[in-house]
Amino acid sequence: MYYSEEIIEEIRSQNNLVDVVSEYVRLQRKGNSYFGLCPFHNEDTASFSVSPDKQMYYCFGCQAGGNVFTFIMQMENFSFIEAIKHLADRAHIALPQPEYSEEIRRKIEEKQVLLEIHKETAKYFYANLRSPRGQQASEYLIKRKLKENIQKLFGIGYSNMDFADLYQYLLYKGYDEELIAKSGLVIPKKKGKGYVDRFRNRIMFPIFDVHNQIIGFGGRVLDDSLPKYMNSPDTLLFDKSKNLYGLNYARTSGKNQILIVEGYMDVISLYQAGFENVVASLGTAFTHQQASLLKRYTGEVVIVYDSDTAGTNAALRAIPILSSAGLKIKVVQVPGEKDPDDYIKQNGPEAFQRLFDQAMGAVMFQVSIIRKKYNIEDTEQKIKFTMEVAQLLSKLDNEIERDVYLQEISNDTKISAQSILNEIKKYRTIQRRNTNTINQYSKKLETQPKDQFKTNQAPSTMDEKNGLYKAQKNILSFLYHNPLHYPKIKPHLSYEDFTDPVLMKVAQLMYGQYDKGLNIEPAAVINHFEGLNEQKQVSKIFGEEKNKNQEFDIEKAVNDQIKLIKKANIDKRSRNATDIYEIQSLIEQKKQLEKLYINLISG
Ligand code: CTP
Ligand code: MN
Repeated sequence: MYYSEEIIEEIRSQNNLVDVVSEYVRLQRKGNSYFGLCPFHNEDTASFSVSPDKQMYYCFGCQAGGNVFTFIMQMENFSFIEAIKHLADRAHIALPQPEYSEEIRRKIEEKQVLLEIHKETAKYFYANLRSPRGQQASEYLIKRKLKENIQKLFGIGYSNMDFADLYQYLLYKGYDEELIAKSGLVIPKKKGKGYVDRFRNRIMFPIFDVHNQIIGFGGRVLDDSLPKYMNSPDTLLFDKSKNLYGLNYARTSGKNQILIVEGYMDVISLYQAGFENVVASLGTAFTHQQASLLKRYTGEVVIVYDSDTAGTNAALRAIPILSSAGLKIKVVQVPGEKDPDDYIKQNGPEAFQRLFDQAMGAVMFQVSIIRKKYNIEDTEQKIKFTMEVAQLLSKLDNEIERDVYLQEISNDTKISAQSILNEIKKYRTIQRRNTNTINQYSKKLETQPKDQFKTNQAPSTMDEKNGLYKAQKNILSFLYHNPLHYPKIKPHLSYEDFTDPVLMKVAQLMYGQYDKGLNIEPAAVINHFEGLNEQKQVSKIFGEEKNKNQEFDIEKAVNDQIKLIKKANIDKRSRNATDIYEIQSLIEQKKQLEKLYINLISG
């Protein structure tokens, strides 16, 4: 959907930048400009300036700058279109209705109703908790020391004992049975027709998205029965691998790091104790999508998982995922096998804060876990320890960083830095050899007789780097012009497979739109890039569709290009692989890649 330049200009002129900024920042007039504390970075002196004449802002500290649209985009993490809608609303300007396809329109309407159903349900649970039927649940929350205002803020409620209480209520409210079923809040009866409530006799935690809309629920039993927690299933609204509990509050907490904890109660309890910058990963292993979601709001995360084995392992698994999203990571270990909720209730916020002051960097945390496995007084174990640490450090590309850890570990263990370094060098050699082995292996596959699925490789005359870039650009362009093929391509090519950072970002934006059933707006995508060069680069994706009317096997081209991209990715990971299972898995992936063929026309 494009909005005309006239209407965009109208919206801009009706939203005075000084007024809009003043809703977020306290501004003071100095000469021709206004100054205040920059909302985009942490500072004590006011280096954020707004010019009423130019209707532009600029921060002398972090160089953030732009107009009223970019301000709202940055401030609210909105896309260009979202910013337009927000500011049109603010100035009471009616926007023309977008022209969506029938299918997309139906999906949007369905989502709208599902959101309403969730909101109604949350209100219902909320009222239940405060009715006589919710007395036991209420007492439970008191026992867990949750104050009334916090219960309200998190919308905590209670689901009744009855079999189909909520279901009946939603029917009575006039919602269509089919949509109630799609909400995941009810499940089909085992026998006969109709539905029963999914959540019964549980404390209910609404799950909010970043725009404060309720998209699902988590429910806890009041005693020790199992399962302790039950969550909404994946629905049109809810995908637990893509959301973080508490992010709606954490993102505007104004702190420069976000804490990651394991559970609902940890989030709420820390919030109550004044740590508003906290999220939980909803009982699943941390995902790449969650990591990049966090990266939109912060540069640094602190993992505060339980210090039991499960929590420690979860932290160890989350570290590479968070790190690949470009986040700086610290780890806090809560002593005494407690979770953060227990700890803060027993020891208070100050003690909890002290734990932060002792937070470890991710690498030192990993080293400390390895350290626990060995008794380094014993020579043989000391060698094993050294080898394992060397393997870990060999994955760091930054030599300076590596030296810092080397020194620290050497001081702590009295193992000489030189001998750890020697081990690291060995691992680096192994890694190089692995890459070669995997490449040779795949060459061999290529020269073997082609099976029926095999298509030709990309032309060998093509400059590889250039070819890889073109492949990524072409796939994005294809996806833009052919939205119907998106569901077939997505399972085989994630946006994280893109190697070029600009194109990866475009892919992420596109996938996000399509996942929501929305169209791609080139202007909005381009707006996510600040540099003129990047903008030019991105706009090329949305140009005329290449080869559209020519006799040309598009399906084959798409397949070849996807393979090229994925192969580049596997090669990249091979270069960093150190353990044999990972190498085997990469070889396997490469083998599978040869067989990959996406059938676009049929199927
Ligand atoms: N979880 C889940 N399903 C379960 C158990 C746990 O979804 N059957 C998720 C929940 O999000 C829960 C988190 O994993 O909050 C952590 O689980 P756990 O540590 O067992 O629970 P706590 O958060 O400590 O819950 P409580 O303090 O209420 O006992
Ligand atoms: Mn707990």
